Amino acid sequence: MIPVLIMQKVLLMGLMKLTNKLTHLFIALLFILSGCATERVIRFNSDISPILKNKCQKCHLPPDGEGYVETGLNMESYDTLMDGDIYGNVIIPGDSKRSVLNKLVEGRAGEAMRMPHGDAKKLTAKEIEYFKLWVDQGALNN
Ligand code: HEC
Repeated sequence: MIPVLIMQKVLLMGLMKLTNKLTHLFIALLFILSGCATERVIRFNSDISPILKNKCQKCHLPPDGEGYVETGLNMESYDTLMDGDIYGNVIIPGDSKRSVLNKLVEGRAGEAMRMPHGDAKKLTAKEIEYFKLWVDQGALNN
């Protein structure tokens, strides 16, 4: 009787270890798959540029856009955007956490500083996410 019980116990423990390993493998697989599904490549030309046109250029084009006049931030093209403003760069490629543009559109610098300003057309959650992903993916001219 006793050896059978011990054998059962050993078997059970082996089985539990195996299930544990399988669970870890399964969770790892889920992470990989969900990563693939959400990390869409965001393109400047087809994703970001239309948002700038619709919701930012009104105030960020020379000669008299008020954001341009106050800070020199010109959103006419990829190059002028990357040139930044009188305070420096507004985008740090690969680092949306520290990029001024992302801080402002996400409202991290406070509601009064949120872009776009005032009663201009607001950004949707998706557009805010696009800015974040695009910057984190290197802010490429793609
Ligand atoms: C209604 C006008 C208006 C619109 C629309 C607008 N801005 Fe601005 N923006 C301003 C003004 C004015 C400033 C100058 C700083 C301030 O007053 O906060 C500015 C400054 C900025 C700055 C520089 C801040 C700094 O401290 O260096 C960034 C970045 C910026 N805007 C991003 C955007 C983005 C991105 C959009 C579109 C999603 C946008 N803005 C739309 C008016 C606007």
